Amino acid sequence: MCGIVGYLGPRPAVPILVQGLERLEYRGYDSAGIAVLNGGGLVVEKSAGKLHVLKSRLNGNLNGARVGIGHTRWATHGRPSDVNAHPHLDCTGKFAVVHNGIIENYQELREQLVDAGHRFISETDTEVLAHLVEQFYEGDLLRAVLKMLPGLRGSYALAVASAYHPQELVGVRQDSPLIVGLADGETYLASDIPALLAYTRDTYILENGEIVHIRPEGAKVFDAQGIPKSKEIYHVGWDFQAAEKGGYAHFMLKEIHEQPRALRDTLSGRLQPDGKVKLEGVNLTAAMAASIEKIAVIACGTAHYAGMVGKYLMEKLLRLPVEDDIASEFRYRDPILNEKTLGLVISQSGETADTLASLREAKKAGAQILAITNVVGSSVAREADHVIYTWAGPEIAVASTKAYLTQVAALYLLALYLGERRGAAPWAPGLARGLKELPGRVEEVLKLEPRIRELAGRMAAHEHAFFIGRGLDYAVSLEGALKLKEISYLHAEAYAAGELKHGTLALIEEGTPVVALATQAELLEKMLSNIKEVKARGAWVLALTQEGNTAVAAEADAVLYLPPVSSLLAPVVTVVPLQLLAYYTAVARGCDVDKPRNLAKSVTVE
Ligand code: F6R
Repeated sequence: MCGIVGYLGPRPAVPILVQGLERLEYRGYDSAGIAVLNGGGLVVEKSAGKLHVLKSRLNGNLNGARVGIGHTRWATHGRPSDVNAHPHLDCTGKFAVVHNGIIENYQELREQLVDAGHRFISETDTEVLAHLVEQFYEGDLLRAVLKMLPGLRGSYALAVASAYHPQELVGVRQDSPLIVGLADGETYLASDIPALLAYTRDTYILENGEIVHIRPEGAKVFDAQGIPKSKEIYHVGWDFQAAEKGGYAHFMLKEIHEQPRALRDTLSGRLQPDGKVKLEGVNLTAAMAASIEKIAVIACGTAHYAGMVGKYLMEKLLRLPVEDDIASEFRYRDPILNEKTLGLVISQSGETADTLASLREAKKAGAQILAITNVVGSSVAREADHVIYTWAGPEIAVASTKAYLTQVAALYLLALYLGERRGAAPWAPGLARGLKELPGRVEEVLKLEPRIRELAGRMAAHEHAFFIGRGLDYAVSLEGALKLKEISYLHAEAYAAGELKHGTLALIEEGTPVVALATQAELLEKMLSNIKEVKARGAWVLALTQEGNTAVAAEADAVLYLPPVSSLLAPVVTVVPLQLLAYYTAVARGCDVDKPRNLAKSVTVE
């Protein structure tokens, strides 16, 4: 859970490394550092805290350096501190390593190294790597790294620099992403594409076990045995603007506003004019689709809540049992799966450790794996049998918004796809028509922004809030509460509205905010009773419902009217005001919206 960068070329390395780290801060931001080759030696600058702390330490120094590596950290082994920040050096100070991931056998390696006379100064697993490179070094940096790799267990992406080789860098990918940026006379390394876009669009996306050796002549890729590999260049098609804030105060707000576009991209080309669905990465024959007896949704956090929408949806439409699991539970609960199970793995990043491990468990049990992910070439995408990409574009804010919405859109597409192949889907034409209208509906719902901003002011004054809903509204309320919690630090709980009276009602007191989702036509009356229950205990109720639901409006203290969409498609328009409510509440409380405390964008450790 960290970000790595590297540069070798004719230009000053420090500003390039620092800018690359800025683009990767979403991967972790509790400390940062660089190591550059300057005047024949390795110079390391690193510090706990966000990148601006490192920047002020650098203060325009080290401008002679043309080669270096950098790191932004999210602590796993060892608390955030200057000494635990990367890069890490060996005892001689001749080798520097930055690392993303976990070296599982680092304790054992550390003990061996200590016995051999090495001295350690940090609590990290990474430091063993610098010592190991030094131990294996016999005049060739690439060979030293190659010799070290068989002894490592775990997931890692590494970049290595050495004072003995001021014109070389070595990068390794094993279960954590690493991308090589190629330009004329210069080469870059980064954990993710946005860090490279300012410099190049031509890249090598390293596969597991691949090693890149970077020199002034260019980058060469090798396999784990050191045999050269020919590698195809992946040209990045994204617009640079897509990775920038684009005039909004925060990435999160920008990403909320990008949702109509993200939805259009995700749906376009897939929803055919005749209402049929074409999914380029999914190859389920009618016989395979008909043989599915159960769908197992596997995901974490927001992606899991998108999966819950999928569960309600697919059970209703396909009459197929759908289990939804949190990946960290799934992987250890010995779930009942077989070749008639479709494992539906949802992950924005495609690198979430628990999700990936669960994917492997499900595959081992014989399930076909269909992934919904936002990142091309991610581990989840590569290991799944079928993939639906959400074309949300890079999501930089830690709190997921456009990825969630496009995951939900992909689930509607999947329902249509499976419906077509399993036969008898009278609901399909209506659903396809409604789906096509969704981007426009999301544009309409975004117009509620000024009103939501006002309501957020009221919300911000509280420490607790509740979100209630029934059916699909319950699934969406879970996501609404999570958004509020993670960015505004306000305690929020989502409850199935019918469940309140079994305990939670005790927490409702005078003025407690309750966000009531009332979009499900067949459950509206029941929902109305639940709103009355909380009102009777003094709650302040903000209702979200479709225009015309006057009974709901009459009970609530405030109402947000949603554009007209069917109950089935309501999650897509309901979640948007909840995202905005969380956003403006966090802003009103002065929180760091894009980088909430203790969180990181991509959780690549268990
Ligand atoms: C919350 C959020 C997280 C992620 C979760 C899974 O806003 O973004 O809950 O949804 O960490 O991440 P991915 O989808 O990358 O597997």
